[in-house]
Amino acid sequence: MSENGNKIRIFDTTLRDGEQSPGVSITPEQKVQIAIKLDQLGVDAIEAGFPIVSQGEIQAIKSIKKAGLNAEICGLARALVHDIDTVITCDLNYVHTFIATSDIHMQYKLKMSPEQVIQKAVQAVDYAKSHGLQVEFSAEDATRSDIAFLTKVFRAVGEAGADRIDIPDTVGYATPEFISYLVRTLRENISVPISLHCHNDFGLAVANSIAGINAGATCAHVTVNGLGERAGNASLEEFVMALQCLYKKEHNIHTKLLYETSKSVSNIMGMAVQANKAIIGENAFGHESGIHTHGVLSNPLTYEPIDPEMVGRKRWLQAGKHAGSHGIRAMLGDFGIECTDIQLHKIVERQKILADKGKSISTSELLSIAGEVVQNSKFEEKFKLYDFHIVTGMNLIPTAVIRLNTNGKDLIASDTGVGPVDAALKAIQKVASEIANVKIREYKLDSITGGSDALAEVSVKVEDKDGNVVSARKAGEDVVVASVQAVIDAINKVMLRKVLYPKN
Ligand code: KIV
Ligand code: ZN
Repeated sequence: MSENGNKIRIFDTTLRDGEQSPGVSITPEQKVQIAIKLDQLGVDAIEAGFPIVSQGEIQAIKSIKKAGLNAEICGLARALVHDIDTVITCDLNYVHTFIATSDIHMQYKLKMSPEQVIQKAVQAVDYAKSHGLQVEFSAEDATRSDIAFLTKVFRAVGEAGADRIDIPDTVGYATPEFISYLVRTLRENISVPISLHCHNDFGLAVANSIAGINAGATCAHVTVNGLGERAGNASLEEFVMALQCLYKKEHNIHTKLLYETSKSVSNIMGMAVQANKAIIGENAFGHESGIHTHGVLSNPLTYEPIDPEMVGRKRWLQAGKHAGSHGIRAMLGDFGIECTDIQLHKIVERQKILADKGKSISTSELLSIAGEVVQNSKFEEKFKLYDFHIVTGMNLIPTAVIRLNTNGKDLIASDTGVGPVDAALKAIQKVASEIANVKIREYKLDSITGGSDALAEVSVKVEDKDGNVVSARKAGEDVVVASVQAVIDAINKVMLRKVLYPKN
């Protein structure tokens, strides 16, 4: 069924189509970093870039090729001798060459007749094969092309020696039914292995890729986090997990590395992943509602179609107004807190009152409520934010003054920074350093809504001197306030870990 035993071939184009995501541009060194991650993940082929676009791209592709990875390394080229020569200059022996075959592209973009397009396609494949290259040929905008003409082009490039033909759904216009029909039709006429390259303009990229595989295609072009032109390409993680769990097909991906790879790509490319994205979004394995947490705690399969560990993740529970006693008891249990049914009821109700005020309940806030209810001060938040103020401006050095309270004692510190957030976080670390020797390891700011009053989400990770790392998130309209609250919350959590698990 596939060129590679029974396994579906994963052709990763994060470094080519993914890098074409509007606003993304990375250095050659960063491209190599991502290629290494993709190789560890187990992709079969890496489309390392489009060498004709810049000298930096050529340098990046050469370095990726030199890295001696297991994956096959491919470069993109238009069906032009000069483009193919540039791929060869990068020391590659694998080219992905393309030319458009739809009427709209041939008439308005290429300004070529169908005969000229076939001629160019065949010449390009001939040329690449005569230089010893492995050739994957794409008919750009294939899904909006006349099927008879498309078949003619694919047959001609197959006869010229193309090793694989690819069906790009360039503007994400196809439906699963159409892709299935197209792949079956092509298979009746052409014996070259078929790949799919689906874009996500209607949110169907993964469904279309799967439909193509079920109809007999053996490879899909995918990207980590679904990055790519406009709405992106088929997401690698969704495609692979659907393939494995729902269609029982094999592949070479080490699924336990999916989350870690997604994080690296998101950080390096500066493209945040939406919280509710399947497999890799922050909420993909989080549960708040009482009914769901109860179910998951009794048997994870009740509300988890995928074991989080399969993709390198962990289940987490969230306090809040939908939370029930089972979930809250489990969350407290994680910190070794036991309580009676009456105490538990009080804790659940108190955190619901807070949540009804529109507050998202952090773990340290929940523990602090629990501490008060079970009358054990060791669960209390170590640091309470009293006040802070910041001065900033064009000709001023941003300066923050922070006032915290710990065990009834006021602590004040000030510091400067490159901006108001930097100044505030440095001041917090300074003020907390008397009690907690912590460092901020990661700080990430995402805008959740648009506009100057956008809701921003701050995620931070702090580490104590023993290497314990905890994370915290806060959303708010004021990024400085959200940043200060997130860091204090994380410091409180890491301090609590020490109290509850002194040996860790
Ligand atoms: O989407 C597309 O058509 C492409 C081609 C270069 C294959 O990315
Ligand atoms: Zn594409």
